[in-house]
Amino acid sequence: MSAHELATVAKAMVAPGKGILAADESTGTIAKRFAGIKVENTEENRRAYRDMLFTAKGVSQAISGVILYDETLRQKSADGTPFAELLAKNGILPGIKVDAGAKELAFCAGETVTEGLDGLAKRCAEYVKLGAKFAKWRAVITIGRDIPSSTCIAANAHALARYAAICQAAGLVPIVEPEVLMDGDHTIERCEEVTEWTLNAVYEALYLNRVTLEHSVLKPSMVISGKGCARQAGVDEVAERTVRILKRTVPAAVAGIVFLSGGQSDELATAHLNAMNRMFAGNLPWPLSFSYGRALQQPCLKAWRGSASNVPAAQAALLHRSRMNSLATLGKYQAGLEKQGLAA
Ligand code: 13P
Repeated sequence: MSAHELATVAKAMVAPGKGILAADESTGTIAKRFAGIKVENTEENRRAYRDMLFTAKGVSQAISGVILYDETLRQKSADGTPFAELLAKNGILPGIKVDAGAKELAFCAGETVTEGLDGLAKRCAEYVKLGAKFAKWRAVITIGRDIPSSTCIAANAHALARYAAICQAAGLVPIVEPEVLMDGDHTIERCEEVTEWTLNAVYEALYLNRVTLEHSVLKPSMVISGKGCARQAGVDEVAERTVRILKRTVPAAVAGIVFLSGGQSDELATAHLNAMNRMFAGNLPWPLSFSYGRALQQPCLKAWRGSASNVPAAQAALLHRSRMNSLATLGKYQAGLEKQGLAA
């Protein structure tokens, strides 16, 4: 892919009113989601579930791209069309998760570093042949007593930057995802501090590794209170603190910012994104959108429950959540639309 094409893909990923569906759960992670709806974790059930997601009519109005897992990129829709081809035909960019997961970081108890750099250039070349246009790598930062350590921040920033450079050289737009976990009883102030530290380290590493920021997309967590913290910050406070940190740390050249949901309820994830766009529309150098996994799929999984007869209801649930988040990218979402089940 030429530089021009990389720029075009990056821009298309964050086109107005659109965001990304993260459907790249590894076989182990989808097992947890299926266990919640009592569906057996077989290859065929995983294929059928993704087929339901990707054949939902009308989602391309709200979804610019879908992140796939290695197995899914090699699977086909019921009519024999490879998933990547099916998505592309519907105007949706196929993406691929290329990391190998967060693994224990030596000498840093309770912390991880994301692995998967070995052989990455070769895998990227194959993914490009299979139709992928962008990639994702998730780094995990945990807040706790005396952590994160500077060792953990540096190791993860370095891996993210090496990944991003390898992807761009291979012709894939990298989604750079440093997730500061919401697990723990830390305050929102602590989350803000750690997010600022992390993002500063990530952009320094991207610079050192010669990554072209215009051909990259950032996928951060929002600045929110720890799950177990007694004071849960309200929607506007989350929006203000998140945008403040992004302004301090993310260069204007970055093509766009797509948030992860990280365990927030689906409606709260939508409300937070909406507040940011309502409060700061027109005053930011990058579009703010979504790349939600759980916050887009939860209602859909519940409606599906592994049964073909539930496919229309599950697809309607996905379409509804996608539309709510599409409105949130424009600052036009209202909680009332949820109750009416309306997609205005
Ligand atoms: P969540 O929105 O469920 O956090 O998932 C997004 C994602 O892709 C995590 O890597």
